[in-house]
Amino acid sequence: MNIDLTNKHILVTGASRGIGKAITAQLLNSGATVAAHYNNTPVAIAGLTPAAAKRLTSLRANLAEVSETANLFKEAVAALGHVDVIINNAGLALKSEVEEPLAEFARKWQTTMAVNLQAVGVLCKQAVLHFINRGGGIIINISSRAAFRGDTAEYLAYAASKGGVVALTRSLARAYGKQGIVAFNIAPGFVKTDMADEFIEEYGEGFIKDDIALAEVTQPQDLAPLVTLLASGLANHATGGTFDVNAGSYVH
Ligand SMILES: NC(=O)c1ccc[n+]([C@@H]2O[C@H](COP(=O)([O-])OP(=O)(O)OC[C@H]3O[C@@H](n4cnc5c(N)ncnc54)[C@H](O)[C@@H]3O)[C@@H](O)[C@H]2O)c1
Repeated sequence: MNIDLTNKHILVTGASRGIGKAITAQLLNSGATVAAHYNNTPVAIAGLTPAAAKRLTSLRANLAEVSETANLFKEAVAALGHVDVIINNAGLALKSEVEEPLAEFARKWQTTMAVNLQAVGVLCKQAVLHFINRGGGIIINISSRAAFRGDTAEYLAYAASKGGVVALTRSLARAYGKQGIVAFNIAPGFVKTDMADEFIEEYGEGFIKDDIALAEVTQPQDLAPLVTLLASGLANHATGGTFDVNAGSYVH
């Protein structure tokens, strides 16, 4: 089945690289109009048709700042006319150690929670208000396998923040379903992106492969087809659900 996203207006956060960039490319190639958020590097996607390139707008915001985060949604509405789907993909993984000084440990927790959880909450707040006015909308939040099976000792804050995203998404699905709003969690396992580089450096690719059923480590483009399906509205009755994309690590 070919999924046609023509007339779907979508905001994607963290679209400058990694999973967000691969998702944005597939959404554009499926006909969507996309507001692609970035923090430092404007979103540039190679190989788009001229028609697809015209449907791409880049918007900047530091998601560690509440006012910039709230403003991002307003700018997306201004750029696209309205938003049908929001994909909260941006996130960071700050390494910390229980042995480090309290102030440093707490600073990393605050930044992690601000970007990975509070910004998602603020964007969902804006989206819900907008979607209620429009009679519905779709929320897709990228959480993590770490929310379910935990992470390594250096990523306690990361795992905790992603657990919060899961609970937030399920709560939105429960609370606003009658108003036509659906909400999904996507929980990737290890995905080969810049975020994962530090982990690969420390543990090696062999460690990652030993953890999965498939032969190959998941690439950013492996997430995009599922996101495209959820963004189409064809899977709305799966609202509240979590989709594991982890190369079979739970059955390994
Ligand atoms: N790579 C993995 O193994 C993996 C596994 C599970 C979940 N995830 C999740 O998938 C999502 C995308 O991860 P990725 O691997 O593509 O990472 P990445 O580091 O390649 O991309 C992260 C994106 O988030 C943006 N971002 C980070 N901090 C920001 C800030 N303060 N303000 C605005 N934007 C900010 C970055 O600019 C970037 O575009 C994240 O939520 C991540 O937690 C990744």
